[in-house]
Amino acid sequence: MNTPYAVEIDSITKAYGAFKAVDNVSLKVNAGESFALIGPNGAGKSSIIKMLTTLSQPTSGSAKVAGFDIATQSSDVRLNIGYIPQLLCADGALTAWENLLLSARLYRIPPSEHKDRISEVLEAMNLADVAQQSVRGFSGGMIRRLEIAQSMLHRPRVIFMDEPTVGLDPAARNTVWKHVRRLQEEYKVTIILTTHYMAEVEELCGRLAILHRGKIVGEGTPAAIKSDLGPQGTLDDIFERLARNDDEEKAGKENYRDIGRNRRSLAKRG
Ligand SMILES: Nc1ncnc2c1ncn2[C@@H]1O[C@H](COP(=O)(O)OP(=O)(O)O)[C@@H](O)[C@H]1O
Ligand SMILES: [Mg+2]
Repeated sequence: MNTPYAVEIDSITKAYGAFKAVDNVSLKVNAGESFALIGPNGAGKSSIIKMLTTLSQPTSGSAKVAGFDIATQSSDVRLNIGYIPQLLCADGALTAWENLLLSARLYRIPPSEHKDRISEVLEAMNLADVAQQSVRGFSGGMIRRLEIAQSMLHRPRVIFMDEPTVGLDPAARNTVWKHVRRLQEEYKVTIILTTHYMAEVEELCGRLAILHRGKIVGEGTPAAIKSDLGPQGTLDDIFERLARNDDEEKAGKENYRDIGRNRRSLAKRG
């Protein structure tokens, strides 16, 4: 990589008509880092992921992923990334092995390497025992692990996960986390994930950006964000406050900084 950054976003905007789903966002993520994009529904998280994975084009601005420009080097970007979309995408009619074989062909992995690569990722995601079973009988957590396995086959440098544990029960969520940590520790992959779960950020990510109405309204380590909120502050507080603002249609009057200020003055008052 000719840049130390796994992801480098420079003033990117995505507009649908007059509406800006992503509004002039800039962001840098180091290679090997795990980074979370959090924010209420509609904040623009998936829109950012779609641009970075070359599935949609920015209206303005630019970005590099694994050192490649998303607009001018999109096929290089695709070869170097894994993508786990928000909606489940494994084919239920096929076995886990067959799903992986499809991905191996999609990524143009030489047929002579199929068996070894598929066995490796099945092992890494703890699915070797169920490789020949139809995915229709899998739990949500198993399907997510299969999708992570699919995204790893071509040994990407950056993996994007859009709400990887949404809809999973806490036990399944924990298993997925355990396997994501394995990706981080053993495969040293850069992970960009979006989530609603603050526990997920604290469990998996070194840094996060808080997105609200297409703009980054806070960025830092989970600990720094929490200390901004005062001693009793949690990441959930920011999230709830931003969501409430949306409900009451008064966003903008109270931004992330104000929330921190309010929390701190509340803490002082005891
Ligand atoms: N294809 C599209 N056409 C029009 N509006 C869209 C489209 N995709 C997303 N949006 C809008 O952009 C905003 C951000 O959406 P999205 O990026 O999916 O947010 P998030 O993933 O944070 O929930 C939402 O208001 C959504 O309705
Ligand atoms: Mg989304």
